[in-house]
Amino acid sequence: MNSFTSGKLYYGGDYNPDQWSREVWLEDVRLMREAGVNLVTLGVFAWANIEFSEGDYHFDWLDEIIELLHENGIAVDMATATASPPAWLTVKYPEVLPVSYSGVRHSHGGRQGYCSSSPVYRDRARLLTQQLVNRYSQHPALRMWHVNNEFGCHNPMCFCDVSAASWRRWVLKKYGTLSELNSAWGTSFWSQRYHQWDEVLPPRETPAGTFPNPSMMLDYYRFSNDEILGLYLSERDAIREIDDVHPITTNFMSMRHTRFMDYWKWSDEVDFVSTDHYLIAEDPNQNIDLAFQADLTRGFANGKPWLLMEHSTSAVNWQETNIAKADNQMIQNSLSHVARGSEGAMYFQWRASVSGSEKFHSAMVPHAGTDTRTWRNVVQLGELLAANEALAGASTVPARVAMIFDYESWWALSQKNLPTSQIDYPALAHDWYRALWQLGVRVDFIRPGLKAQELSAYDLVLAPMLYLMGESQESELMDYAANGGSLIASYFTGISDERDTIKLGGYGGKLIGETLGVFVEEFSPVSAGVEVKLSNGMTSSEWSEISQARDAEILATFTSGPAKGSIAVAKNSKGQKPSWYVATRLDDKSAQAFFASVVSELEIATEGGNGVEVIHRGGRRIEINHNEATWSISEA
Ligand code: GLA
Repeated sequence: MNSFTSGKLYYGGDYNPDQWSREVWLEDVRLMREAGVNLVTLGVFAWANIEFSEGDYHFDWLDEIIELLHENGIAVDMATATASPPAWLTVKYPEVLPVSYSGVRHSHGGRQGYCSSSPVYRDRARLLTQQLVNRYSQHPALRMWHVNNEFGCHNPMCFCDVSAASWRRWVLKKYGTLSELNSAWGTSFWSQRYHQWDEVLPPRETPAGTFPNPSMMLDYYRFSNDEILGLYLSERDAIREIDDVHPITTNFMSMRHTRFMDYWKWSDEVDFVSTDHYLIAEDPNQNIDLAFQADLTRGFANGKPWLLMEHSTSAVNWQETNIAKADNQMIQNSLSHVARGSEGAMYFQWRASVSGSEKFHSAMVPHAGTDTRTWRNVVQLGELLAANEALAGASTVPARVAMIFDYESWWALSQKNLPTSQIDYPALAHDWYRALWQLGVRVDFIRPGLKAQELSAYDLVLAPMLYLMGESQESELMDYAANGGSLIASYFTGISDERDTIKLGGYGGKLIGETLGVFVEEFSPVSAGVEVKLSNGMTSSEWSEISQARDAEILATFTSGPAKGSIAVAKNSKGQKPSWYVATRLDDKSAQAFFASVVSELEIATEGGNGVEVIHRGGRRIEINHNEATWSISEA
């Protein structure tokens, strides 16, 4: 198989020539050359323009545009065009359309209007993929395959009867017997015991004020992830049967609000990781979010290069207020990704649409044309990427600190009836990352379940709200901390096993009770907006708990409320290196002070900080100064 890297940084974006006339195509390729574009993603939403009715394929326009791109030296990231089924398909086979949690069957007209379990959708998608691969796998313009688009974005779970049958097969395979299933889901509660397999339905909407069984719901997240991954695999394998040369990817959505796909599992199935990232324009910490998601993607890629497949030159069209990017911001944003291992910068989309729901989304060629700030930035970024091809194929230097990022804990914590509705898994992860970013400490992201040996590559491992923790993960973390590693765990870590059954005998199981030496008796969340004062002068919010120090040095206690006198921050020094427990959501200043003391005690090197990022990749030192909106790339 070809390597996905090419010795150059990729530059380009989604290209939808089927929205434009042939005259515009000629202008497109001319402008692409002017901007230094060397890769476009072609045909993501083109199904209805390729297959007019069942089996009636039309490739003439695609043949023509691929040839034109090739003549102009532009390579193609070829989509399987399956991201949005055409109207004829859903009219002919209405069962393809997905059904919501509330039992509503959706209509054709948006996008991703399919049930991932539907055999009809899977067959038609595979047949279209085969057609495309047969036709283009030998074309010299082809660089890589792009399966579907942002799997699970709009239809992460389907609750139809076809999904129900598939779900029962999944559950049967996982649990084998009904008694095992009943025990895993704790169905003695609220008369939920199952006596026959066909009584097991998807966790559909229940009477007002009640919610589906949380253990079952957690499994439905797992099932839905597996099901959509299965759909990806069926298209991927259809490509591989015909073409074993070109690398295959699908674009993830490594974004703060996207939780449905477990990208750790997905990353095992792609030839290289690619992702999409969009800023939340009103987020005051958007630069840190950018860094977080790029580092997380680098984690999915296991440190190897990956590709930023989409982001925006300026405003998007799907937020409450779609604020434009500042002059040069798109360049600075792209660099945050490139520094962290992206093999270039790709955008949605090449040319701004004039109709359809995305007509107000920015693009590389804006509606106003080329005498624009956006176009000048686009050309400038093309020059910058071309001048820095030394970065291509190189990995970013790994960090000394790792954060465990766990989609399954996020799924469990996204449910109702928790101690407080303020629980926000990514928010705590972001708080900790932000404190370290401000201190100039880089962070790697790692999957849950690594062995102590693998964890030992890091001086410090962070476990913010690692709520689900099976025995093996618990013992690996305990071994890591006992044998020279330092750990920081937060409140609501290690609460339940993989089935979301609570561990008895002090919250947090052995990890919190033994390794960190804190016996947690009871939670006492704090009302929204109320500031919590700690005995060491720090402040926090959201969480307090009633606990006893069994074998821990108390660094701070709660000073009021039901948890007054209980541990807010504790340190345990019985391993070769210290570990810490943080029993509340520290505010920004306090989190920074806490992490500064940890970093100094563990002698972890810092570089940059206070708004200046310094990252090393491929023998280059990349500095992005967010305070002054400047950057530099120099030989290290
Ligand atoms: C996603 C999709 C694109 C486009 C952008 C808009 O990333 O993949 O097709 O809709 O969002 O921001």
